[in-house]
Amino acid sequence: MKRIRIGIICFGNVGIGFVKALNEKNEFYQKEHGIEFLVTAVVSLDKGCAYNPEGIPLSDLLEAESLLDIPNAEHPKWNAITLIHNAETDVIVEVSYTNIKTGEPGVLHLREAILSGKHVVTTNKGPIALQYKALSTLARENNVKIGIEGTVMSGTPALRLGTEVLHSAGITAVQGIFNGTTNFILSEMENGSTYEEALALAQQFGYAEADPTADVEGYDTAAKVSILAQLLFDEFIEPLNIDREGITDITPADIRAAKVENSRWKLIGSVRKIDNKVIASVKPAMIPLSNPLSNVAGVTNAMQYETDLLGPVFLIGAGAGRIETGFAVLEDLISIFTKSA
Ligand code: HSE
Repeated sequence: MKRIRIGIICFGNVGIGFVKALNEKNEFYQKEHGIEFLVTAVVSLDKGCAYNPEGIPLSDLLEAESLLDIPNAEHPKWNAITLIHNAETDVIVEVSYTNIKTGEPGVLHLREAILSGKHVVTTNKGPIALQYKALSTLARENNVKIGIEGTVMSGTPALRLGTEVLHSAGITAVQGIFNGTTNFILSEMENGSTYEEALALAQQFGYAEADPTADVEGYDTAAKVSILAQLLFDEFIEPLNIDREGITDITPADIRAAKVENSRWKLIGSVRKIDNKVIASVKPAMIPLSNPLSNVAGVTNAMQYETDLLGPVFLIGAGAGRIETGFAVLEDLISIFTKSA
């Protein structure tokens, strides 16, 4: 049995979701892949640190209010950087809060882990939208892997489908619903909720960003569109430079008007290559009910790849949520440790 030691940076929605998902499937992975994933170290800004090189029981991690309450662990005064340097780990799971203006502190954490010879997995959109090329080059130079599946559509394999499968069919465009919070808000408003009630629920369910402005003003979708542009078309477009509009100006009257026209409002992110030029945008659009994207409701996300050889390909699935994003981390871990020696 291969034992993989994991260090987790930050223990918020995604960190906890990851441990829950792992707790549910760990035995299955042992049987299926001969891999035992151990969480050896966790550090959080407000819950302290816990460390046990033999593995911290996942149930202890899930039950403890504070990491300092975990009984069978040491509690060194580490921050993210000292954890990377001192804990026995094979891979660092970086799930700190996202900042799409600077990418920090995620970029710093990822660079430090890569330079220390650790594989890294992240769901953090800021560092990947802004620094993917530099980070993936650094990873290659240091002989480690970088997993980023959870940065777009949580655990729904949006990036893998594009980069590992459809790429060879010739991708010309991709468009879709890439933000769970705004899609949830629009669906709830259709069902009669106010914008404020719907946003409060999205925050309660853990879909929204720490600062939900990123969701409702379209910045989160812009970061995802930027990641898609880099992965699919090798084109860097800074998220803040993407032509962008959010959903805050959509009123209940607009929603009723769309219904009369057999349509629904959706926040659509899109990136396409036309005459060797890559064009990206984030905009609310009235989508006719005949288009599958209009029937994607709630926190669910969806995307449509357009390809030369296969025509349009749709992918519909979870776009946010604790366990769903936690599973994205597992996908990357399994990929890294079943493909590498
Ligand atoms: N706030 C994001 C969303 C989380 O609602 O889609 C997943 O990236």
